[in-house]
Amino acid sequence: MERKPPSNNRIPELQAPFRYKGNLLAVEGLPVESIAARVSTPVYIYSSAGILERLRAYQRAFRSVPHLICYAVKANSNLAILRLLARHNAGADIVSGGELRRALLAGFPPGKIIFSGVGKTEEEIKDALRARIRMINVESEEELRLIRKTARKLKVQAPISIRVNPDIAADTHHHIQTGSKTNKFGIDAAQTIRLYRETARARELRIMGIQCHIGSQITQMRPYGKALEILLSLRERLLKEGIPIEVVDIGGGLGASYHEGPSPHPEKLARMILPKFRENDAILFLEPGRSLVAESGILVTRVIYRKNSHGKHFIIVDAAMNDLARPALYDAFHLIQPVRKSPTGRWVTADVVGPICESGDILGKARRLRTPRQNDCLAVMTAGAYGFSMSSQYNSRPRAAEALVEDGKWRLIRKRETQKDLLRGEIELI
Ligand code: LLP
Repeated sequence: MERKPPSNNRIPELQAPFRYKGNLLAVEGLPVESIAARVSTPVYIYSSAGILERLRAYQRAFRSVPHLICYAVKANSNLAILRLLARHNAGADIVSGGELRRALLAGFPPGKIIFSGVGKTEEEIKDALRARIRMINVESEEELRLIRKTARKLKVQAPISIRVNPDIAADTHHHIQTGSKTNKFGIDAAQTIRLYRETARARELRIMGIQCHIGSQITQMRPYGKALEILLSLRERLLKEGIPIEVVDIGGGLGASYHEGPSPHPEKLARMILPKFRENDAILFLEPGRSLVAESGILVTRVIYRKNSHGKHFIIVDAAMNDLARPALYDAFHLIQPVRKSPTGRWVTADVVGPICESGDILGKARRLRTPRQNDCLAVMTAGAYGFSMSSQYNSRPRAAEALVEDGKWRLIRKRETQKDLLRGEIELI
């Protein structure tokens, strides 16, 4: 679904991959209802056209400078999604040995994989060095020491990038703000300089980049501008000391639209970043997760019961906080839409809740919708990022199935877990 690049100053809108066709919610023209009927519920459904449109929007927005879009695997780490992004020239931003394995299996070239995270273990560092990934984003002095020791043992040179904590408080939920001095992430500017000097002297280490990541679900572009200025001025200072840095990595964090209306376009981010960046001979890296996949995924769930108690309406569905943790964890809002619009149902204001034994198990509070019937399907929108990847088996609930629509067809990309899967690793030991 290539669309024309903007011919003037207007920023184009990204298309919503899920739309109504008559009364039926459809994805790339396919009725969601028919997929749910085959796979059963709860099921995550993703649109490959939607994901690729967003990847291409990034690639186009930054095409005037050498760059790499490293998808933050944590947002949605399904192998089929990773493979789709790898095939279209994305890199991968990983935060664990498990994500490294997934990224390699999906076909990301090691030279396009970068490794972030405050608590990398020796095992994980070893795996990353053996795989010869592009760079390790170092988050503490002790980590740098361990990487050096590990590289010496393996007789390799470790490519290093230091994650700077720029002390910028991006305007977002406090759980997903990462670039302020009260957060555990990154290293302050003064220490950064000292650690680069140390790195430059160490035979086992090679300086590759400088990085920061200021938070998630960011909709204001100014904090990115400020963060980039800090990275570039540190780079400049080090260059004067004869320490060159090739990669400048501004992290991820661009928001998605959880309500109706357009999401921030990567072009908006490019307009903040590129004028500051252009004079440099560096390669620009970005680490978007949510903005690539959030709007291209929904969680489809079925109504089990409706009830009215003390005058309050509840719609009890078969998906719960173990399937989608965001509303319970961050009080996050996800639009909930009928999979088949009913022109007749009576309007109610109801909480849409799951079967888990916690009052916080709410997918949507006080939603105004037409009363669905039992067995009707509802779609929890904008669930492609941090949906399945944060799901759990709480209450001994098998995790949901996942399906991907591509070229007008859908296929299962993760089987629904079974009761047997839930017992694996335990049943042998009783
Ligand atoms: N790079 C690093 C180092 C990160 O820590 C993250 C996200 C990203 C990139 C990608 O950020 P994104 O573009 O997706 O905003 N579970 C939360 C979001 C946690 C984000 C953690 N770090 C949620 O559901 O809102």
